[in-house]
Amino acid sequence: MNHFASIARVPGDPILSLMEAYRADNRPEKLDLGVGVYKDGQGLTPIPKAVKLAEQRLIDSETTKSYVGGHGDPVFCQLLAELVLGTDSQALAEQRVGATQTPGGTGALRLAADFISHHLAGRGIWLSDPTWPIHESIFAEAGLEVSHYPYVGADNRLNVEAMLTALGQIPQGDVVLLHACCHNPTGFDLSHEDWQRVLEVVKARELLPLIDFAYQGFGEGLEQDAWAVRLFAQALPELLITSSCSKNFGLYRERTGALLVCAADTEKLVDIRSQLAFLARNLWSTPPAHGAAVVAIILADPELKAIWSHELNSMRERIASLREGLVNALEPHGLAQRFAHINQQRGMFSYTGLTQSQVTRLREAFSIYMVGSGRANVAGIDAERFPQLARAIAQVCTE
Ligand code: LMR
Repeated sequence: MNHFASIARVPGDPILSLMEAYRADNRPEKLDLGVGVYKDGQGLTPIPKAVKLAEQRLIDSETTKSYVGGHGDPVFCQLLAELVLGTDSQALAEQRVGATQTPGGTGALRLAADFISHHLAGRGIWLSDPTWPIHESIFAEAGLEVSHYPYVGADNRLNVEAMLTALGQIPQGDVVLLHACCHNPTGFDLSHEDWQRVLEVVKARELLPLIDFAYQGFGEGLEQDAWAVRLFAQALPELLITSSCSKNFGLYRERTGALLVCAADTEKLVDIRSQLAFLARNLWSTPPAHGAAVVAIILADPELKAIWSHELNSMRERIASLREGLVNALEPHGLAQRFAHINQQRGMFSYTGLTQSQVTRLREAFSIYMVGSGRANVAGIDAERFPQLARAIAQVCTE
């Protein structure tokens, strides 16, 4: 008997497979605007200096490689919760918040998905259209019914009115996934006023928000990017937040993140955390320790924290200047107006408005890699190659 005979092939991951295709491309002019990793002027994804310093301290002081507990490192969990919710958070003061360390933000999402599917039976989850493609599969794989609310209109620009109208029709009690900042893939963020309106609908429909916070510090700043999360945490007794340290600490491959739960009271939080520990045990047992230990060292040390936040600011400012540079480079091709939205977007990504076939053409003819939805990782652009990129975009736009 051939046990594996019926196994069919699935297409590669829409984002990670781009990395592999890019690596296999031998053309020297190739340009990687695919997976969301920050790159410096040399095209490298650097390890922040604060991380290197913290790693050195860790190596010198670490005495064991024994397991961390099911919820991970309590110091990391506490400091990350403060970074997300603010040190003055009322929910933290009332001991209604718990963080569970997870393998990256993706692990936090999967844990949240399992939690919803096991303990909030019958609740559907609503994702923005478009969203990070892995959101779709994570929740579907956990057995949840996945639906969508519109985020952009036919013109590929943010459409808050359509979003609010759709949210207002979501069945009472369902879960709504919101991107705290640097919306992936569009780069369009809600204004403070928009967030207030979303909150009103969430309250009216008694929805449970799950806020994905993967880019803290990449939009407007560490504190500014947390504005909506803190608004919701203040206004609602119950909330799920997934936090990632991949981008802002440059710890991508160390898989460092957390699921934060705000509960109505401490007693209920303890119940929920017992369930999360059970689910996590059956997913990955205990989380990987290294990245979280590094983050804990940085956040606990004012000097290292200052170095890190300075480095994070530089990354953010560089991305903002790259956005401007790209629009300027498109100007001689008469495309500055058409792509002006790139300057209004935030974070690593730009929803360019390029079609799937234009994206394919960019890859095949010009070795320029971006996600099929037309998402470009602006942080992957090498400023010296703006003219090359602009020429290629102009070419595919006129074909
Ligand atoms: C992305 O969207 O490119 C990043 O979040 C990396 C990933 O895991 O897909």
